[in-house]
Amino acid sequence: MVILGIETSCDETAAAVVKDGREILSNIVASSQEMHVKTGGIIPERAAREQVKSIIPVIDAAMANAKCKMANVDAIAVTVGPGLIGSLLVGVETAKTMAWVWNKPIVPVNHLMGHIYANWLEDRTKTIDHRDKDTEPKLPAVVLVVSGGHTDLVLMKGHGKIEWIGGTRDDAAGEAFDKTARLLGLGYPGGPAIAAEAAKFEIRNTKYEIKLPRPLMDDKTFDFSFSGLKTAVAREVQKIPTAQRPKSLVAHVSYEVQEAIADVLVAKTLRAAKEYKVPTILLAGGVAANTRLREKFASEIKNLDLDFDLDFRAPPPLLCTDNASFIASFAAYNFRPVTWQKIAPNPGLTVAGEV
Ligand code: KG4
Ligand code: ZN
Repeated sequence: MVILGIETSCDETAAAVVKDGREILSNIVASSQEMHVKTGGIIPERAAREQVKSIIPVIDAAMANAKCKMANVDAIAVTVGPGLIGSLLVGVETAKTMAWVWNKPIVPVNHLMGHIYANWLEDRTKTIDHRDKDTEPKLPAVVLVVSGGHTDLVLMKGHGKIEWIGGTRDDAAGEAFDKTARLLGLGYPGGPAIAAEAAKFEIRNTKYEIKLPRPLMDDKTFDFSFSGLKTAVAREVQKIPTAQRPKSLVAHVSYEVQEAIADVLVAKTLRAAKEYKVPTILLAGGVAANTRLREKFASEIKNLDLDFDLDFRAPPPLLCTDNASFIASFAAYNFRPVTWQKIAPNPGLTVAGEV
């Protein structure tokens, strides 16, 4: 089955053609990120206006790269939420029009569920932690979904069988990266900027101790809380007199923030995997592209004394952040088309919410 995926939930305009839920025939992402760098974040109306301009060229490019004609497309999949209403509307209205004109089935997709399916796409980059790249992940799995606006832990018992077991009470993990980056005067999006600074930091050169909390790490629930991190960072920096702040301070703080976020995410996810005795842990969402987080998962799993096998998987970094290939993949594994008249954006959708 060949599916054309369309994704416009945030600042990206993306289209992809995917065969049988796993093989990426094309994957085009246009981003208005450069525009948002200047403002330190997304201005929703400006993002949507850019998306109106790029949606048709992006779909055309995806079809051309896949060497595909509409006659070869079996269905259209589109993100209906969560996301920015103006941005979602661009993708949804385009997909509905195409479904009507070409008489194709259309599948509404929950963006957060879509992220999870990046773990089902074949890895052409061969960069990742998969032990056996050609097999599909074994279910049930504990899935950590960490994006710019959401942080959720879910138990995935099967395709379409999702149980929410915990999530953030305030800021998402990606938001914590983005907000601290802004505080430190780094670019947008904050995650990659913090990761790049953190990589420059050398522990042995440090004169100051920066101690950040690990919020809710030992708490019995599977909840998270990241809103205090930004304040903690500001407090730690203010402790050092301005004249005495070393050049390496930004790198040092970035390193500590990344450690704090990763420690909490890894600890809670591993505890969930142990408690539910699942064979698989899956990472999903933009923050899953973080190298340190992936390394920590891989090394901490090795240190666990388990009486069952536990496989850890994360998608190739380029497929972690927003793109349409995972939207098409989700639709192939959860093929529930609806008539185009019934599709509408749903900005407040949650990970286990029905589209
Ligand atoms: O999933 P995503 O692309 O968009 C949403 O659905 O929100 O996630 C974007 C988030 C941003 O907060 C960004 O800072 C973060 O993912 N991110 C990262 C990395 N790459 C993107 N965070 C940490 N390390 C990265 N390498
Ligand atoms: Zn996303």
